[in-house]
Amino acid sequence: MSIITDEQNNFKKVDINIKSPMIKPEVNESDMTFENSIRPKSFDSYIGQTALKETLKITIEAAKKREQPLDHLLFYGPPGLGKTTLAGVIAQQMGVEIKITSAPALERPRDIIGILMSLQGGEILFIDEIHRLNKIAEEILYPAMEDFFLDMTTGKSQTVKTIRLPIPKFTLIGATTKAGALSGPLRDRFGIIHRLEFYTEAELSQVVKRTAGILNIEIDEEGAHAIARRSRGTPRIANRLVKRVADFALVKADGKITKNIANDALDTLKIDNCGLDTTDRNLLMLIIEKFNGGPVGIETLAAALGEDVRTLEDVCEPYLLQAGLLQRTPRGRQITPYALEHLGIKNSNISFQGNLF
Ligand code: ADE
Repeated sequence: MSIITDEQNNFKKVDINIKSPMIKPEVNESDMTFENSIRPKSFDSYIGQTALKETLKITIEAAKKREQPLDHLLFYGPPGLGKTTLAGVIAQQMGVEIKITSAPALERPRDIIGILMSLQGGEILFIDEIHRLNKIAEEILYPAMEDFFLDMTTGKSQTVKTIRLPIPKFTLIGATTKAGALSGPLRDRFGIIHRLEFYTEAELSQVVKRTAGILNIEIDEEGAHAIARRSRGTPRIANRLVKRVADFALVKADGKITKNIANDALDTLKIDNCGLDTTDRNLLMLIIEKFNGGPVGIETLAAALGEDVRTLEDVCEPYLLQAGLLQRTPRGRQITPYALEHLGIKNSNISFQGNLF
């Protein structure tokens, strides 16, 4: 089974002879390689999430002093904010290996058992999308997380026996876009639970400049800011836009990213000055034009747009909510006055009841 491939990050490539719960990335391979090549490896090069970084530094220092593994950690928040990257930084800082997998890859009991048995003392196991773990895998994890044991059953019906198999002490880092979808007992077994926040424009500007530096792309301050502004608070998006804008700069100009080049490139990519793409705008326009501003159920919206509910909930919505363009109400999604303003819609007959701003 191959789990980890990120050598630059000091992530270890692991081979285990139980069959393969390999990561199935939802982004394509070349994006993964690109992401891996620019991942920060230390707290110093990891930009943003300042409060979380400070807490983690203390926790790591204390764990090292006690010569104990770190408590199990749960990171939650929208995709692309650096949960996997942070897990890699933690491993680096602890001086231990990290094994990376994702819950949908842990389909059969032997998948999770294989990984747990392969761990060395102190190592970190990172499970992405942990809210998608099945019940059996979860139940295998409970004693492993709590007491570092695997409860294995042997024999059939009347002769069934349970054996407790010790495993080395390890740290589980779980990541999820949906903390609320985790079962209570699993959530309770994490010592530290932290939400990752959207990045500010200033932080994203730093991410953009750092990435451009690694890729040898010339960029000025205003060019970096123009990309940061349209990156919807998300470093993964900022990094992808750096590449797209760099292509544009190379073909249309002298290769240097300036404010004008960045704005022209992003206009061409149909990313507006709030960072919204065509899908986001279609979603807002649908609510405005067909549902009189809402409220309307997410399933109805997904069906009308031909999108998956999960994509809308996990990818589109968090930023629209954070940017104040959309509201979640008990009766469904509703646009805000700011959405009308942003989309340049005047004289609409949508009325907003008292619950908005
Ligand atoms: N690339 C992705 N996330 C990053 C971060 N937080 N800091 C620096 N570079 C990044």
